[in-house]
Amino acid sequence: MYKILEAKELTSNIFSMVVEAKRVAKACEPGQFVIVRTNGDSERIPLTICDYDREKGTVTIVFQAVGAGTEIMAHLKEGDFFHDFVGPLGCPSDLVKEEISELKKKKILFVAGGVGTAPVYPQVKWLHERGVEADVIVGAKTKELLILEEEMNAVAGNLYVTTDDGSYGRSGMVTQTISDLVGEGKAYDLCIAIGPMIMMKFVCRLTKELNIPTVVSLNPIMVDGTGMCGACRVTVGGKVKFACVDGPEFDGHQVNFDEAMQRQQIYKTAEGRAALAVKEGDTHHGGCGNCGGND
Ligand code: NAD
Ligand code: FES
Repeated sequence: MYKILEAKELTSNIFSMVVEAKRVAKACEPGQFVIVRTNGDSERIPLTICDYDREKGTVTIVFQAVGAGTEIMAHLKEGDFFHDFVGPLGCPSDLVKEEISELKKKKILFVAGGVGTAPVYPQVKWLHERGVEADVIVGAKTKELLILEEEMNAVAGNLYVTTDDGSYGRSGMVTQTISDLVGEGKAYDLCIAIGPMIMMKFVCRLTKELNIPTVVSLNPIMVDGTGMCGACRVTVGGKVKFACVDGPEFDGHQVNFDEAMQRQQIYKTAEGRAALAVKEGDTHHGGCGNCGGND
C-alpha cells in the first residue's frame, strides 16, 4: 500500500498527489511513468512522473479526472492509500543519458500542452540542476487551466506562457509561440513536446518545416505497461513499437500520429478491439481482465 502524503486540486479537475513510494523514488528518472490502482480490482492508470524526492522517498503525480478510474482517484485524500504504485516504467528521457557538457552546447526548447506540463517539469528541473537552461513554452486553453507556472518558472531558462483564448500570457496555441520565437531570431537544436496527441502532431509538423529535431512522449491507452498486452502499439518510422517499453519518448518526426489517435478512439469499444485483433494479429486486445476486452 502506498500512502498519499499530500493531495490537492491544482485547478478545475486537475489534481496533484505526493505519494510515499520509496523504491520508485529511488530508481525513477525524468521521462518515466507509473501505473497506479486504487484497489486490487480497479482500473490500471498510467501516469507520468511529475517530480520525485529520493531522500523523502516520494513521487508526485498529476492527473486530470477524465474517466471512472481518475474520478475515483480524485476523491482520495491525504492519508489514503493506493493499492498499487508500479514503476518506474518505460525508458528514461534520452537527455539523462547525454554528457552534460554536450547538453550545455544545445539550445533546447520544451513545449508543454495542458496536463502535459507535468511530465515536462522533471526534465526541465533535471537540466536546471545541472546548469543547463532550457526555454519552455507552456500552453493552456485558458488562464484557469494553466498548471505549475511557478514551479516551471523556477527551473526554466525562459518561460513563455500562452493561452488559446488570450486570457493570460501570449495568445494562441503553442505552435504560434514556436513560430514567433523562431521569427524573433531564436534557434533551437532540439524540441521536446509533451501534451495532447493533436498538439504533438502539429508541433512536429511545424518543427519538421523548421528543421528542429523533435522528441515527443506518447500516452496511448496502456494496460499492463510491460510490453505484453499490445494496447499501446504505435507506428514509428514504419515500425511497430510499444510505447510502454520502447518509449514513451520517440522521434516525433517519425510517429504516425493519425494512426495513434484513431487507434486511441477505436480501443475504447469492444468492437474496436475486436477489429484491431483481426487487423494487427496476435498482440493482445483485451481479455486480460483489466481493459474489459474480448477473450
Ligand atoms: P489541451 O487540449 O488544453 O491543450 C493544451 C495545449 O495544447 C493548448 O493550449 C494548445 O496550445 C496546444 N494544442 C492543442 N491542440 C493543438 C493543435 N491542434 N495545434 C497546436 N497546438 C495545440 O490539453 P489538455 O486538455 O490538458 O490535454 C489533455 C490530453 O493530454 C489528454 O488526452 C491526455 O491524455 C494528454 N496528456 C498527454 C501526456 C503525455 O505524456 N503525452 C501527459 C499528460 C496528458
Ligand atoms: Fe504497452 Fe501493454 S501497455 S504492451
